[in-house]
Amino acid sequence: MKRGLLITAAILVSAAIVAAGVFVARHDWAVEELMGEVHEGPASPFARLTAQTPAAAVEWSKLELILPPLDEMCRALLSANDATIRESSAGYVDAVGHLRRAITERDQPALQAASQSLQKSCADCHFAGGVGGDLPTR
Ligand code: HEC
Repeated sequence: MKRGLLITAAILVSAAIVAAGVFVARHDWAVEELMGEVHEGPASPFARLTAQTPAAAVEWSKLELILPPLDEMCRALLSANDATIRESSAGYVDAVGHLRRAITERDQPALQAASQSLQKSCADCHFAGGVGGDLPTR
């Protein structure tokens, strides 16, 4: 009786360890970390992009600095372990491509359009039950 309980407990503990191990191995830590770095807070590349309003003079040289972190984010999405993340990343990756062209060509209308596309692409993954979960409204 006592032995049966011990064996059951040992099996449950092992199963929990295996499940935790699989989670750690399969979880897209790089995606999660970069998501925060690239999009959260007033100094983030995403905030620096959305702060550029159509009315104001665009600070192109500052915008060039946000391209490397956005590219890194694209690479992390495209090489994610989770197939759903990879398959949902097209809108984000496309928008970053348009952003790069707009910034290189100093094209303000194209910049605004690409910025809108990038903001819309969040919803490809971020919704209740989606792979990125619901985003807190700010
Ligand atoms: C291709 C899918 C995908 C797209 C597109 C996407 N995200 Fe995410 N995002 C994720 C995933 C996956 C996570 C990690 C969720 C988790 O495991 O907690 C995440 C997490 C986050 C987090 C929380 C980071 C943290 O520190 O935990 C923020 C903030 C975020 N995303 C913002 C954005 C914004 C803003 C956009 C659009 C500009 C965006 N995301 C577009 C998939 C995506």
